[in-house]
Amino acid sequence: MEGSRLVVCSLRGAPAIVLACMALAGVVLVSCSNLQRAVVSVPTIEGATFVGNASCVDCHSNYTRIFPSSPHARIHVANAPRAEATGCESCHGPASLHVQAGGGRGRFIINPGREPQACLNCHLEVHAQFQLPHHHPVLEQRMNCVQCHDPHGADIFKASHRTAFGARASTGLARLNETCAQCHREQAKPVIYEHEALRDGCTVCHHPHGSVADKMLMQRDNNLCLRCHAQVHAINGELFIGDVPHTTFVSRGACWSAGCHTAIHGSNIDRALRH
Ligand code: HEC
Ligand code: HEC
Ligand code: HEC
Ligand code: HEC
Ligand code: HEC
Ligand code: HEC
Ligand code: HEC
Repeated sequence: MEGSRLVVCSLRGAPAIVLACMALAGVVLVSCSNLQRAVVSVPTIEGATFVGNASCVDCHSNYTRIFPSSPHARIHVANAPRAEATGCESCHGPASLHVQAGGGRGRFIINPGREPQACLNCHLEVHAQFQLPHHHPVLEQRMNCVQCHDPHGADIFKASHRTAFGARASTGLARLNETCAQCHREQAKPVIYEHEALRDGCTVCHHPHGSVADKMLMQRDNNLCLRCHAQVHAINGELFIGDVPHTTFVSRGACWSAGCHTAIHGSNIDRALRH
């Protein structure tokens, strides 16, 4: 493995719908010039050179067809001979020998499989998130990046079609909850009294990778809830949240602690989200 520079070009020709989805996911699109960055390592294959995404079309059209609007499609490895994008090879390694050999499993090409290191080579900041005190057990090899991120498709924030339960396509933030629901059915199941916060996605309250707070919460205290539910002080000093006096309640602990809104993901018995 040796150092290599990486250039990411603008979202040329990406359909508007994709841009809209990315905006919903809170993704900020930066211009090409901002995205130049040094990459720790692009995989190498002895004797092989980069040939570009177009070389894969003949044999892997199932991937090349869906790939152009993926954020990784814009990647160009700077020392590649051609001017064209080398996104496929930034994860799979230079493919000249694979192409010459007529392809094949295990033939001069890297299949990262479920190995998170293939992604962490470039996403260093994500590596740090998975080392926070409360995190999804990815580095522990109990789960992996592609269970939540499709490396080939237009929607990187969706589970890979190879790992997702069912192939139900959906749009917007609902798909994000579906990704989580693969493993956390209990929190995503339909209920009589839903908590509308979930419509904004599980990630309004949970960091998907890791957090300093227990249960990977974005904030460890009542501020988690007060972002959306205003806390109002009446003239007599009484504290109101959602038109209900809360002065004695808030001193008992977090909003979701025992006796309070324990059914935070929705309830079948109480509108006030209690079990
Ligand atoms: C001449 C046809 C051909 C071309 C061109 C080709 N491949 Fe393949 N490749 C194959 C075949 C056949 C397999 C075996 C698996 C299969 O049938 O899907 C394969 C397998 C792979 C695998 C899985 C390897 C494994 O060990 O599991 C990867 C990754 C891959 N190719 C990437 C690429 C990339 C990236 C390109 C373009 C730079 C490319 N291939 C170009 C035919 C080709
Ligand atoms: C962001 C990294 C990344 C990029 C970019 C990428 N892939 Fe992959 N690819 C993966 C990972 C990870 C797997 C293994 C996924 C799994 O096992 O679920 C994989 C698997 C494959 C396989 C093997 C599938 C099988 O049957 O086992 C082929 C073929 C392949 N990719 C081709 C491509 C082609 C062609 C491109 C460009 C159009 C591309 N990949 C771009 C990460 C990437
Ligand atoms: C060769 C370096 C490289 C590799 C390997 C790589 N990525 Fe990326 N990834 C990038 C770049 C560059 C971008 C787009 C620029 C950006 O948003 O920072 C990106 C974008 C993303 C995004 C979207 C980020 C956003 O804010 O829009 C996700 C999610 C992502 N990658 C996940 C993965 C996963 C999962 C893997 C492994 C299967 C992987 N990446 C492998 C370089 C890489
Ligand atoms: C449990 C599901 C899950 C797993 C596992 C996961 N991610 Fe993510 N990731 C997400 C979600 C959801 C977002 C979007 C967060 C948001 O919009 O607030 C995200 C965002 C990202 C981003 C862009 C934002 C950022 O924080 O930089 C990158 C890059 C990324 N993930 C890479 C990875 C890599 C690499 C791995 C594996 C080492 C991985 N992810 C594993 C769910 C996951
Ligand atoms: C592939 C399966 C999988 C997916 C997908 C997944 N998780 Fe998890 N989640 C786990 C595992 C495994 C643990 C660790 C449980 C343990 O340590 O006992 C976990 C733990 C958690 C915890 C902490 C639970 C606790 O009791 O401390 C939260 C919160 C959580 N996940 C939220 C999410 C969210 C939000 C998403 C979607 C962005 C998501 N998960 C997607 C498997 C998954
Ligand atoms: C309004 C904020 C909020 C939203 C949105 C949210 N959660 Fe939670 N979640 C919490 C809180 C608070 C806890 C901690 C509960 C406790 O400690 O008793 C929690 C706990 C969890 C746990 C640990 C097990 C448990 O129930 O205590 C999992 C797993 C989990 N959430 C998954 C999800 C998933 C999946 C989604 C999306 C479908 C989601 N959460 C959406 C606030 C939220
Ligand atoms: C992303 C915004 C958001 C966050 C964060 C959020 N909520 Fe909500 N919550 C809503 C919306 C929207 C409603 C429905 C409208 C309403 O009743 O205010 C709601 C409704 C409720 C209700 C039902 C009110 C009633 O009587 O009908 C309770 C209880 C509640 N939330 C508690 C919490 C708690 C506790 C937290 C923190 C763990 C929290 N919420 C975090 C948006 C949010």
